[in-house]
Amino acid sequence: MCGIVAAAAQRDVAPLLIAGLKALEYRGYDSAGLAVLADGQVRRVRAKGKVREMEAAYLADPFPGGTGIAHTRWATHGVPNEANAHPHMVGRVTIVHNGIIENYAALRTELQAKGYAFSSETDTEVMAALIDVNLSKGLSLREAVLATVRELDGAYAIAVMSRDEPGRVVGARRGAPLLVGVGIGEHFLGSDAQALIQVTNKTIYLDEDDVVEITRERAQVYTLDGQPAARDVHESELSADAVERGEYRHYMQKEIFEQPRAVADTLEARIHAHGVLPNIFGVDGEELLAKVKGLHIVACGTSYHAGLVAKYWIEDYARLPVSVEVASEYRYREAVVPADTLFVAISQSGETADTLAAMRESRRRGYLGTLAICNVPESSVVREADLKLMTRAGPEIGVASTKAFTTQLSALALLALHLARQRGLEQARYQDLCAQLLRLPRAIDEALKLEPQIVALAERFVHRHHALFLGRGAHYPVALEGSLKLKEISYIHAEAYPAGELKHGPLALVDEDMPVIAVAPNGPLLDKLKSNLQEVRARGGELVVFADSAAHIDGNAARGVVLRVDAGGEFIAPAVFTVPLQLLAYHVAVLRGTDVDQPRNLAKSVTVE
Ligand code: G6P
Repeated sequence: MCGIVAAAAQRDVAPLLIAGLKALEYRGYDSAGLAVLADGQVRRVRAKGKVREMEAAYLADPFPGGTGIAHTRWATHGVPNEANAHPHMVGRVTIVHNGIIENYAALRTELQAKGYAFSSETDTEVMAALIDVNLSKGLSLREAVLATVRELDGAYAIAVMSRDEPGRVVGARRGAPLLVGVGIGEHFLGSDAQALIQVTNKTIYLDEDDVVEITRERAQVYTLDGQPAARDVHESELSADAVERGEYRHYMQKEIFEQPRAVADTLEARIHAHGVLPNIFGVDGEELLAKVKGLHIVACGTSYHAGLVAKYWIEDYARLPVSVEVASEYRYREAVVPADTLFVAISQSGETADTLAAMRESRRRGYLGTLAICNVPESSVVREADLKLMTRAGPEIGVASTKAFTTQLSALALLALHLARQRGLEQARYQDLCAQLLRLPRAIDEALKLEPQIVALAERFVHRHHALFLGRGAHYPVALEGSLKLKEISYIHAEAYPAGELKHGPLALVDEDMPVIAVAPNGPLLDKLKSNLQEVRARGGELVVFADSAAHIDGNAARGVVLRVDAGGEFIAPAVFTVPLQLLAYHVAVLRGTDVDQPRNLAKSVTVE
C-alpha cells in the first residue's frame, strides 16, 4: 500500500526521500512522486511505475531544498497515472496521503461550490483543498490540518507542507501507520522504520488521531483536540543489513532461506526440552490463558492460513474449541462470543486495516481478552492487544509472505502447547511435541535442500494455466498457502481443496492439463489421501506429491513425481511441508519472468479496507 516519507533538514532532502521510498517499495505501489519546498516555491516530480522512473525524472532536472514530502501510491481512487500520483498541490498546500477518505465525495461537491477545481480523481486532493480553506481563515498549517482531519471520515496517514511555512511538515494519522524519525538537527516522517533507517534509528510512534509538526529543530505531537502530547522515543533494532537482498536474486528467496534462523529466533528463550516457559505471554498471560474456554482467531491472507493450522493444533492438544475467520468477514457480522473466549489477531505487519478494525470491534463483543501474534513490535495491533507474542522474522520485504508464515506457525505452536499443558495434556505427549518444535529450524533447513529438485520440477509448471492443491487435516491449510503463493507471484490460477472434497466438484477439472499437487505427510490420513491420488491418476491428471521420506508412496513414472520431505514429526509437519511449496511457487515465477517481490496489483501491507 501507499508509502510516505517526509523530511525537514538542512541538507538537500530529495535523495533521502528517494532512498526512503525505495525502502518502502515492498509495500506495493504503482506510481511515485516527491515535492520539495525551498524559497517559498514547491518543485514536484511524479511518475507512473517504479520509484526509479520517478528518480530518473528527478535526476534529469534536480532541485535543492531541505523540506520535502514523498510518496508511493497504490491506486484506490483513480487509475495509476501521473495526474493521480502524489504529492497533490492545491493553493498553498502540498500533500501526500495513505488511506481512504470515505466522505470525500460530499466534501468535493462543497469545495467545488467554493470555486475549487480538481486536477485528479483522488480523495487526497479534496483533503488538500480543505486544508487550504482552513489556511485562508488565518490558521497555521498545524491548526489547519487539525481542523481538517476533524472533518474527515475514513483512514489516513498524511504529510503536508504549506508554501507559506518554510521548514515545516505536518503529519497526522488515523487507521494507517506513520512514525517520526528523530535525527540530529533534522526530523523525518515515514510509514515504517525501514524507510528511515538510512537516516536515523530513533523513532516516535504516533498514536491514533495524533498530529505532529516537524522542523529541523523539533518534532512536536498534538492530540486531536490540539493539546501538545509527549510520546516516547524508541531506538529501533533494525539494521540496514536486515533490508538488504545480499547474494539472493529476490527478497522472497532470501526470506525463504532465512526461515531456519527466523523460526529459531521465534522459539528462543520461550521453549526448552521440558516445556514452554510460563511467562512468554507477559505477566498476566498465564493467568488469563488459564481461564480461556475457546478461541476466535481473526486474520487476513497468509496469516489467516496460519490461524487455520492452529485450529487443528489447539483443538487436538488443548481440546478447546477454535473458530478461524477472515477479518473482513468477522468485522461486519454479529459473531456469537461464548463466555471466556480469547480473541486472537494474527498479522505480520500489525497494520492490516481489516484485522485492526476486527480487533477494535472485538472490544465491544465481550471477549475475555485479546492476543496479538505479530511481527512488528510497535504496530497498532500489538499496541492495542492485551497479550502479545511477537514473531521474530525480521523485516519481510517480498509481498508473498514466507518467513512470516512459518514464524507465525511457531508462535501458534507455542500457544497450543501452553494451552494444552494448562489443560492437562499428558506429560510424555507434551514433551514429545516440545521436542518436535525444537527440531523445527533443523527440519526446515533440511527441506530447503530440496531446492535443486524443485527448480527442475518448476519447469513442468511454466506453461500451465491452472493447478490444484490437495491436503488433509492440518495440511489442508498448507495446501491453501501453497496455492496462494503460486497464484500471487506466478499468476497461475491455483486452488486448494481438502483432499476428501475432491469428488464433490474439483475432480471434474482434472485432466492431463491440470497438475495436482498433494501434500502427503505421514499420519493417520495418509491412506485416505492415497486413495484420493488414485482418483486423480485414473483421470490422467499429472501428480506432484510431497511425501514424507518414510511414507510408502510411489510415483507413477509417466504422470507423477514424488518429492521426499523429512517432516520431523506430525506436529511440525505443516511448517516443514510449507517450505517446498514456497520454493515451487518462487521458481515457477522466476521461470515465468514475473516481478516476484512486487507482484502486480498486490500490496504487502493492506492499510485500506
Ligand atoms: C497482504 C499481503 C499478504 C499478507 C496479508 C495479511 O495481502 O500481501 O502477504 O498475508 O496482507 O497481512 P498481515 O500483515 O496482516 O499479516
